[in-house]
Amino acid sequence: MEERIEQKKIPTRSLYSGERIPCLGLGTFGSDKYGADAVAEAVYGAVKAGYRLIDCASVYQNEKQIGQVLERLFAEKVVERRELFITSKVWNDMHGEGKVAVSLKQSLSDLKLENVDLYFVHWPFPNYHAPGCDGDSRNPDSRPFDLEEFMTAWRQCEALVDQGLTRYIGMSNMTVPKLEAVLPLCRIKPAALEMELHPSFQQPELFDYAVAHDILPVGYCPIGSPSRPERDRTQQDVADTELPAVAAAARAHGVHPAVICLKWAVQRGQVPIPFSVKEPQYYSNLKCVTEDPLTDQEMEAIRREDKNCRLIKGQVFLWEGARGWEDLWDMDGEIVTRR
Ligand SMILES: NC(=O)c1ccc[n+]([C@@H]2O[C@H](COP(=O)([O-])OP(=O)(O)OC[C@H]3O[C@@H](n4cnc5c(N)ncnc54)[C@H](OP(=O)(O)O)[C@@H]3O)[C@@H](O)[C@H]2O)c1
Repeated sequence: MEERIEQKKIPTRSLYSGERIPCLGLGTFGSDKYGADAVAEAVYGAVKAGYRLIDCASVYQNEKQIGQVLERLFAEKVVERRELFITSKVWNDMHGEGKVAVSLKQSLSDLKLENVDLYFVHWPFPNYHAPGCDGDSRNPDSRPFDLEEFMTAWRQCEALVDQGLTRYIGMSNMTVPKLEAVLPLCRIKPAALEMELHPSFQQPELFDYAVAHDILPVGYCPIGSPSRPERDRTQQDVADTELPAVAAAARAHGVHPAVICLKWAVQRGQVPIPFSVKEPQYYSNLKCVTEDPLTDQEMEAIRREDKNCRLIKGQVFLWEGARGWEDLWDMDGEIVTRR
């Protein structure tokens, strides 16, 4: 294929600093389905095609392979380091005092970088589950959100900015009540909030809260994660690509419904990070933001498709005594601290 999308045609979004980043990036979680080499090859092809934002995480177990392709891309002069915006995330078992730096330094060594652009706290709990575990697995050491514990992790992230190991820091899988508690305590505010966002799960309250606080919403599972692991599937889940307004727009624009989900996300103002290892898919996922936007009517019809359908429920992080996955998400408007 080898077609490149012109950078100047790709819209950008602003961080609180005024720095602009691409309006869409590439996800790198293989969903226990695609191996590290396949994901890394996709990063290589995607950067060649025009992607500049790559969403990584230590728990995806592929940063080493991605580091090798980044080195290749720099050696082949496809891009320079400063043109890329690379994120990574600290996993739940590395929140403790002194551990966050160990985790980032490991990611930097794997990615063969001197710094990342944005480092996320992946989940606001120190609750570990093994990669690839099934949906019923529980860790007896898991516990509810604890402000002190979270701030211990965040203070370390702030120190990593001071040390130049990351340029920005961010939070992921947060709720409004948790943000209300932590934001006043932050010396360095989060630049971005990575959150599940797709047509059937629009999280309007959290989205608006982030925007009002000048925190960029980054949307994961933007296509509704059709290849997500078994542990993240339930019978009630809705397929975003089959929603009537998405399907109708796909017919009208002559594109795959996946592409409509991405156009909607970008036009709404979040930065979607779709995953694909398939070149025609990742190519069209970026290309679609440069042409043929959705109409206001289509945007409104998709807005009305919100079903509050959370796909990544996080039940593997539950603690003993929790009522159910809802406890992770503070659905009564207060932080659930109960054991
Ligand atoms: N912060 C967090 O806690 C968190 C949680 C989850 C995900 N994430 C991040 O978000 C990224 C994206 O989420 P995700 O991978 O779960 O879901 P997603 O991007 O919504 O879905 C990816 C799947 O959609 C299909 N697809 C992609 N482009 C397509 C196209 N143009 N046409 C048709 N189908 C297409 C592919 O399915 P096939 O493979 O079957 O072709 C692909 O595997 C992850 O990779 C990760 O970086 C973060």
